[in-house]
Amino acid sequence: MPGSRVARRRRYLVCEPRHFAVRYAINPWMRPDRPVDVSLALRQWRTLIATYRDHGHTVETVKPEPGLPDMVFAANAAVVVEGRVFGSRYLAPERRPESVPYEAWFKAAGYDVQHPASVCEGEGDLVPAGRWILAGTGFRTTREAHREVQEFFGVPVIGLTLVDPYFYHLDTALFALDEENVAYYPEAFSPGSREVLARLYPDAVLATRADATAFGLNSVSDGRHVFIAPEATGLAGRLAERGYVPVPVDLSEFHKAGGGIKCCTQEIRS
Ligand code: ARG
Repeated sequence: MPGSRVARRRRYLVCEPRHFAVRYAINPWMRPDRPVDVSLALRQWRTLIATYRDHGHTVETVKPEPGLPDMVFAANAAVVVEGRVFGSRYLAPERRPESVPYEAWFKAAGYDVQHPASVCEGEGDLVPAGRWILAGTGFRTTREAHREVQEFFGVPVIGLTLVDPYFYHLDTALFALDEENVAYYPEAFSPGSREVLARLYPDAVLATRADATAFGLNSVSDGRHVFIAPEATGLAGRLAERGYVPVPVDLSEFHKAGGGIKCCTQEIRS
């Protein structure tokens, strides 16, 4: 039903890519020998922030730290549900120090941060989706962390196994459209997880490999507008048919690090 989707105002936490770079390779997209254009990255990122604000969303920033080139990927720092913050424990030693400035930001903003005991990469692998939290595993976040997340929030956690190293975080293969529905790329998941998704979401919007490699599933939805990579044209078309409004934002420079729109965006859910 085009026109019937309702946007909800969101609060996002982001980190300026002033120190963005590809210095190590912890996913198949990263090629440290290929240069990154930081001024282009900054322009693309500022366009994303301006677009969020133009659509009525609140955007807050954490100060970027030199020597932490992946700190721009705010989604990995935590998952926040009903004003409660479950922090991160990064798999890569290079990223572990990112927890410190993010935790300081949350504390200054009045939140306590729960520390995971096992590897857990925030909204990269944990997608709050209405009545439950979808949780990826296979490359980064562990099953043990899924149990911790369920215990901490008291919300059912649905574990999903990722099988394609190009889609190493759940948020590269799936995003929540609203409380009721998701979009995803089935082949990124194990056969059993695919079946789970098909049972939970019989009306899901399915993406092709082309949509997924264009970072089309690394999108942010406010319930109506879907901030999406411009090259994911097939997926954008299917979203429009379902009454969502695709808002293309190009973060191509971040794809070199294996990230896109959602990776740059932490949602603070109150
Ligand atoms: N280079 C980063 C990593 O591999 C990219 C993180 C992308 N973030 C995300 N939420 N998928 O950890």
